[in-house]
Amino acid sequence: DHFWLRGRDPEQPVRFDEGTGTWHVYGYDECVEVLSDTKAFSADITRALPELATPEFDDGNLLRMDPPDHGKLRKLVSSAFTPRVVADLEPRIRDITHELLDAVEGKDRFELVTDLAYPLPVIVIAELLGVPASDRDLFRGWVDGLFENRPGVSVHQTREEVEELMGSGLDSVRQMWDYLAEHAAERRRRPRQDLLTKLVNAEVDGQRLSETQVVNFANLLLLAGHITTTLLLGNTVLCLDAHPDQAARLREDPSLLPSAIEETLRFLSPFPWSGRVATEEVELGGCRIGRDQLLMVMQGAANRDGRRFADPHAFDVARDPNPHLGFGRGIHFCLGAPLARLEARVALGILRDRLPDLRTDPDDPATFMATTDMAGVKVLPVLTR
Ligand code: HEM
Repeated sequence: DHFWLRGRDPEQPVRFDEGTGTWHVYGYDECVEVLSDTKAFSADITRALPELATPEFDDGNLLRMDPPDHGKLRKLVSSAFTPRVVADLEPRIRDITHELLDAVEGKDRFELVTDLAYPLPVIVIAELLGVPASDRDLFRGWVDGLFENRPGVSVHQTREEVEELMGSGLDSVRQMWDYLAEHAAERRRRPRQDLLTKLVNAEVDGQRLSETQVVNFANLLLLAGHITTTLLLGNTVLCLDAHPDQAARLREDPSLLPSAIEETLRFLSPFPWSGRVATEEVELGGCRIGRDQLLMVMQGAANRDGRRFADPHAFDVARDPNPHLGFGRGIHFCLGAPLARLEARVALGILRDRLPDLRTDPDDPATFMATTDMAGVKVLPVLTR
């Protein structure tokens, strides 16, 4: 159910969903309002969903933190992700992309996610973090375990139901946790030039981060650092393939590539919604939201709000301006946006140059990620000629 792609219901930018007991925010302006007001709207969704709370896995998860703690933690690594610092990674991103494409050289068909879109971002983030990129098959197993058994968001679920739904997903979380804890302990003994070392040595208010905080922060970087970028790569190829006129425009003017990537972030956002909780009774889009009620901020829908975007359901590689919410907005604005943009630009540029006839396989259609948390292709068979 790709409800977030519907776009703004002109009558109802904000709507209460009885089935899940949550507010759905579809309007662009309303989404921006919620994401910008960190006082009225907390990112700690466990306030409304105590059944989902797993303190051992939540403490140190930037995504769920509010000011002032959020800013202190974010500052620890933000210098590693500025556009200037990230630009230095370009040669390495090029080399990895070429190596991955060398492995499919001469083949008539390959699977774009397994062969390029998954390994590229995971190798990059693993190297930054300082965990062996060669363990990526392990990461992929955990990620699949995590996302394939995700409980939907509903305030009506009991803890037992959540745990049952998560099933092996929880095992994946535990295994990732232990893996990262082991590497963090190793860095404490033998520091290196990597983000993990930075985290174990970092101080907030004169205190070292706890082991839990280090591991959960590292975990967020590892996860957020690759799945979404994998989806962005696959989604861009898919969108261009589905809109041959736009693909032709891009072929004529290759300088449109960055803008085509932004359009994919708008049109098929890998990260279609974010959760927030009202900290007080508040008015939004003509609705009265009660204290501690959960809001699903549907960035994917806001990105198709006709009040904000002309012809919102059209995929336009030259769209300008394109103030999409694909990377969020406000203090939680994606930390890795410059890295994700660079990876996409480099990988898709090389793909275009090396495999100009690349297209999806009509006999073997793409399959999508089976979760409402993430949006994009999971398997994308392609033909090279
Ligand atoms: C936050 C999307 C790539 C790290 C976010 C948020 C969005 C997002 C929408 C805000 C969530 C919210 O407001 O609740 C994406 C997309 C990506 C991508 C679409 C790729 C196409 C990356 C990469 C990294 C990363 C490569 C690498 C480190 C993070 C982190 C946060 C975040 C750490 C939390 C920031 C905070 O809470 O202050 N991302 N992301 N993301 N992203 Fe990304």
